[in-house]
Amino acid sequence: MTMISRPNSIRLAAALLVVGAVACGGSSGDSGDAESNQAQAAGGSDELTAFQLEHGIGPMTEVVEVGALDPAMAQTGEEIFAIKCSSCHKIDERYVGPALGEIAQQRSATFIMNMILNPKEMYERHPETKALLAEYLSFMPDQNVTPDEARAIVEYLRSAAPGDAE
Ligand code: HEC
Repeated sequence: MTMISRPNSIRLAAALLVVGAVACGGSSGDSGDAESNQAQAAGGSDELTAFQLEHGIGPMTEVVEVGALDPAMAQTGEEIFAIKCSSCHKIDERYVGPALGEIAQQRSATFIMNMILNPKEMYERHPETKALLAEYLSFMPDQNVTPDEARAIVEYLRSAAPGDAE
């Protein structure tokens, strides 16, 4: 427990900084973060397209269609999830980040992939992800996942729904 509390408080401070910077809106002159300034200059933090609102902001710019569950892909996704995600996410309960057991019912595959592939711009610009950042006081780092790996993780999350809702 004591070993965990120190990095958590650093994360908390960093998250608060981001929330502060986001809350300040346009006058971002002293944030010192070239990337986020660029993102704001490029479109304004609240001018998202309907596509971006529904499917997220990132490299997936077309809707990813999912068909019948592919168990082999889900198995691959589970292995990647164990290595790159399980330190912060559980299926059934809140942890460092939100529980992900129902995420595949709540969000499109495209949204989940953009979140995995481009988390920083998501928590800086997408209103719902910003709200999660404020709630969890911690932000999701880029895990260097490829699009194929992100797709496999989506397949795992589709298969992992607790209680098989619906
Ligand atoms: C260091 C901790 C950490 C790691 C590692 C991490 N996440 Fe996250 N994740 C978070 C936090 C905190 C949030 C909520 C705040 C935010 O969006 O930054 C989040 C948010 C999310 C969301 C958005 C949920 C929603 O309701 O929109 C998804 C999806 C997600 N993570 C999936 C993953 C996947 C898949 C991986 C592995 C590739 C991963 N995360 C790795 C901490 C982490």
